[in-house]
Amino acid sequence: MIGVRLKVFRQDPGSSSQPRWAEYEAQVEDNGRVLDALHYVKWQIDGSLAFRRSCAHGVCGSDAMLINGVNRLACAVLCRDLKQPISVEPIRGMKVEKDLIVDMEPFFESYQAVKPWLINPDPPPSRERTQSPQERLRFDDTTKCILCAACTTSCPIFWSDGRYMGPATIVNAHRFIHDSRDKGRRERLEILSSEEGAFRCRTTFNCTDACPRGIKVTEAIQEVKRAILKEQF
Ligand code: FES
Repeated sequence: MIGVRLKVFRQDPGSSSQPRWAEYEAQVEDNGRVLDALHYVKWQIDGSLAFRRSCAHGVCGSDAMLINGVNRLACAVLCRDLKQPISVEPIRGMKVEKDLIVDMEPFFESYQAVKPWLINPDPPPSRERTQSPQERLRFDDTTKCILCAACTTSCPIFWSDGRYMGPATIVNAHRFIHDSRDKGRRERLEILSSEEGAFRCRTTFNCTDACPRGIKVTEAIQEVKRAILKEQF
């Protein structure tokens, strides 16, 4: 077991208490993750600490947090690899509900706006709609998104204007725009050509650095910008 010093930025906008840093000493296994340290605090010290998690294995995307100043998944980073005390804050640019829980509704509304599903009005074939391995490879990288919002909430444009659709939305649009089976390309690109769409991106690469799945986020955004220009809206 190892000792972990945690500094958690706590707030409860629904109460009269002021936002504050709270410090805790946790015990985790030698290969314990930040999520394990947060569980220790919640289960052994203070049950009122609020944070989201589900799969605990880097798949569901629910525990993105600002850990030592960097957006990461709490379940995917080992305490022993971090400088102590480990600071933990909610992801930036979103309304805080309590402690590390933020309101994800605007994030998912933006995601829905680009219609992240297959659009193809043609009658379904008797078997599946096929595509070649090369066609599938075209959007392989952007299929890896787990909608954790680490990219969007590391973007300075999003911090200054929460209406910007943000990297995660554009990445998920990219996944369908480049799918050879999809017919909604122009429709999605028109949505992304709006004032709050892809051209708000200033190519700072924060999103690429923040992505826990290693998606080339900035490159995907650039590809979407080029596709918009080709369509000439
Ligand atoms: S808890 Fe599911 S990604 Fe971390």
